Formats: sequence, structure tokens, C-alpha cells
Amino acid sequence: MWSDLIAVGRDPSTGGYRRLAWTRTDHDLREWFSAAADSRGLDVTVDRCGNQWAWWGDPDANPGVVTGSHLDSVPDGGAYDGPLGVIAAFAAVDVLRGNGFAPARPLGIVNFCDEEGARFGIACAGSRLLTGALAPDRALALRDKDGVTMAEALVTAGRTTSIGRDDEALARVGAFVELHVEQGRGLAERESPVAVASAIWPHGRFRAELPGEANHAGTTRLSDRVDPTLAYARLILAARESAQRHGAVATCGKVRIDPNGVNAIPSLVTAWIDSRGPVGDDVRAVVAELTALAESAGGTLTEESWTDATTFDTDLRKRLSHALGEPPVLDTGAGHDAGILAAHGIPTGMIFVRNPTGVSHSPAEFAERDDCLAGVTALTTVLADLAGSPA
Ligand code: GLV
Ligand code: MN
Ligand code: MN
Repeated sequence: MWSDLIAVGRDPSTGGYRRLAWTRTDHDLREWFSAAADSRGLDVTVDRCGNQWAWWGDPDANPGVVTGSHLDSVPDGGAYDGPLGVIAAFAAVDVLRGNGFAPARPLGIVNFCDEEGARFGIACAGSRLLTGALAPDRALALRDKDGVTMAEALVTAGRTTSIGRDDEALARVGAFVELHVEQGRGLAERESPVAVASAIWPHGRFRAELPGEANHAGTTRLSDRVDPTLAYARLILAARESAQRHGAVATCGKVRIDPNGVNAIPSLVTAWIDSRGPVGDDVRAVVAELTALAESAGGTLTEESWTDATTFDTDLRKRLSHALGEPPVLDTGAGHDAGILAAHGIPTGMIFVRNPTGVSHSPAEFAERDDCLAGVTALTTVLADLAGSPA
């Protein structure tokens, strides 16, 4: 399975993946998912929002145990963030079947669409739409960098725009366990190749709009300029300083400068800030300071998405920990569809696979093969425990 996917959406110049939602590459990944399910005799359903589900057993008989993750990536992402959880899910089913396991509850594998929000800006769009956390009208109107709306992208991909909360699909999920590569160094120095997740930090994305006055780069005196890149530079420095002071993190990873000419003073800077931290009020304090700074420059800072702190279901976490021999328990600053389902009230847990460098959202993201296999074993153990008895 790993070698099937290794070339899909990979940029040869960087080695990173560009698997953006509802593109041709995404289509190829979705086809791969369907074929992987078909070849195992699993029944594929697609919910209103385009998330794919592969079922072992009748998903309407009683609430199932679901695992899986996502196949999309950030621009220039790594191979593991998302695909490891989907591949491990199919591999775990193979092991269970090889062992003659007979599930007492339906067992599902999900491929959540548009987890990274790399194209339209809202992370976990598939699971947020599914649970009703993201309004369909807002989602459909989101635009990518070329001005294509999500509605147009869905139509191009052959999907309906009749997206939205899907209670039928949600009712099938009695419990959800997502396996994911660890995205920090939480396990790098530990004996255990796997961990169980306790919580996801509160996190949000914000858009700054800093207006300027277009003018000639050669003839406009410095004192006459209204150059929004200066305000942007101040914003970047303030984000770092403020995050440090409040025990949070803040990242200025995406910017658009209009009209983007080398010999013109820009008329507008649009910049995105991602801020997260263990304590929501601290992240909010960072955002408040940056909002004041943007406004003092005649601009705005607008919230594009916000996710409160997620604490995973305590009983399920204890059950996973017990089944896995009490591995380390980690919280994370990375967002996941598991967090969205947990916030919706579905008992949800996560298993992390050791990342020896901690690097993620980068072509350099890596996990040792043996650790990935230990992840499959851990997921198999957990699924056998959860699906071995009726709900
Ligand atoms: C998703 O991976 C995120 O944490 O941004
Ligand atoms: Mn990611
Ligand atoms: Mn991920």
C-alpha cells in the first residue's frame, strides 16, 4: 500500500506532496481508497460531504468502531501525515482477518476529505461539514488561490454541492480511533514506538488585511509612501514576541502581496496567522494583540477558524492505554479530524507513531518502518478490543 501511494502527488523538485482537496491528485487518492476497500470486500459509502467510508459488516446494524485518517496534504507535505492512518487501518483489517477475527460490531475505515484545509483555508473541512461545525454556505463560497470556489471545485470533481451535516453517517460511528504520525519529538527519546493522545491544543487561523497605496517604486519619496509590507513585518515580529510571552506559538506561513510587482509599492498585504497553545485564553491574548496592531495600521485581523481545546474521551483513552500496555500519553499542537468528532460527542481516541526527528508538514517527515508496523499492531489490538464485543 505504501508503494502504491508513494508517487501520487509528489513534487519531483522538492520530494514533498501536493495533495490538495478536490484536485486530480485527490481524485486518484480517492480511487485508490475505493480500490483498497473493494479488493477486501469492504462496502464503500460516501457521506454528504464526500468523506469515504469502507465497512466490514453492516454499518446500519449497530454503531461501528471506525478508524482511518486523511489522504490530503499541506503544500509540500510529508508522506506520513494522514496516509499512515489510512494504510494502517487497511493493514489492521488484514491482520484481524488473518487471525480469523469476527467483529461483533461493524468496523469502518474512513478517508476524511480536505483535512489540511490547504486549498480553501479551513482545516478539517470534511469532518466539520459532517458534524455541522462548518456551515455549508460558508464552505461552498471559500476560494482557493486561483479564485475557484469550493462549490466549483466540488462540481469539477463530480460531486454534489448539497453538502452538510449528515446524521445518518454520524450515527454509524460508535467510536473513532485515528492513528497518526507524531508531529513533534514526544516519542523521539522514549522506548515506546507508540503513544496514546490525551488532548489537542486550542488553535485557530486568522487573516490579516493590511491596505497600502499603490505607487511607483522609483519616484515615490519614502516619506510619502503607505507601504503595507512594513505593517506586515511588524506583525510577524509581534506574533513571535507575543506568542513567546503568552506561552503559545504563532506562525506567519502564508502571504499574498498585491499586485505583486517588483517595481510597485503594494496596495494590499493579505497574510495568514496560525496560533495555538496549551491554554485557549493565552492564544486569544496573542490574537487580541495582533488584532490591535493590524487595526493601528488601518487593517483588520479576521478569524477564519477556531477550535477549542479537545480532551479525548477519558474512558476510551484508558481502554486504549490498558490494551496497549500503558504507553506514553501525549497532548499535541496539531489538529485532527479526531478532534472534530470528539467535540461532536463521539467517543474518540488517537494513537501516535514515533517520529524520530519531530519534523512534520515537510518533505522531511519520517517514521521508521518498524515503528509504523508497531502502530499497525497497536491499532489491531485496539480494534480487536473495541469491536470484539457488541456496542
Ligand atoms: C493539521 O495538520 C494542523 O494541525 O494544521
Ligand atoms: Mn497535517
Ligand atoms: Mn494529519
